[in-house]
Amino acid sequence: MANLNVNGQVRQIDAAPDTPLLWVLREHLKLTGTKYGCGVAACGACTVHLDGEPIRACITPLSQAEGKRVTTIEGLPGGENNRLVQAWIAEQAPQCGYCQSGQIMQAAGLLAKTPKPTREQIVEHMDGNLCRCGSYAQIVAAVERAAGGR
Ligand code: FES
Ligand code: FES
Repeated sequence: MANLNVNGQVRQIDAAPDTPLLWVLREHLKLTGTKYGCGVAACGACTVHLDGEPIRACITPLSQAEGKRVTTIEGLPGGENNRLVQAWIAEQAPQCGYCQSGQIMQAAGLLAKTPKPTREQIVEHMDGNLCRCGSYAQIVAAVERAAGGR
């Protein structure tokens, strides 16, 4: 049994220590906003925060998350009023939507450290998050809007 702090709540998880955090979130806690894309840290669909840092939940074992703060898209401050979510809607970034919670969590990690990123910094930081629908231009625009640059 592991204790996991998820979105500010301590949850007890009955799973092996090497269970991927992504399975724990989706299957044990039913937090399905975090998506499974590739399973090998190559797409970013599963991005959540561990102590405020964006990480890939598909390759992070439960044991590595114990004792740290896990934040998923469901725990983003302000919920639907979060400035990134609002910017995402304004710029119409989601197409099918599948990659977008990972994209937003990745972007939130950038703005937490760099509130006014340059376009180059945004592109570089978001580089590992793939979008099959190709909404990259809208995603960059949304991050710029959230940072107050648009
Ligand atoms: S599902 Fe984790 S990076 Fe693709
Ligand atoms: S919006 Fe469809 S994969 Fe990104």
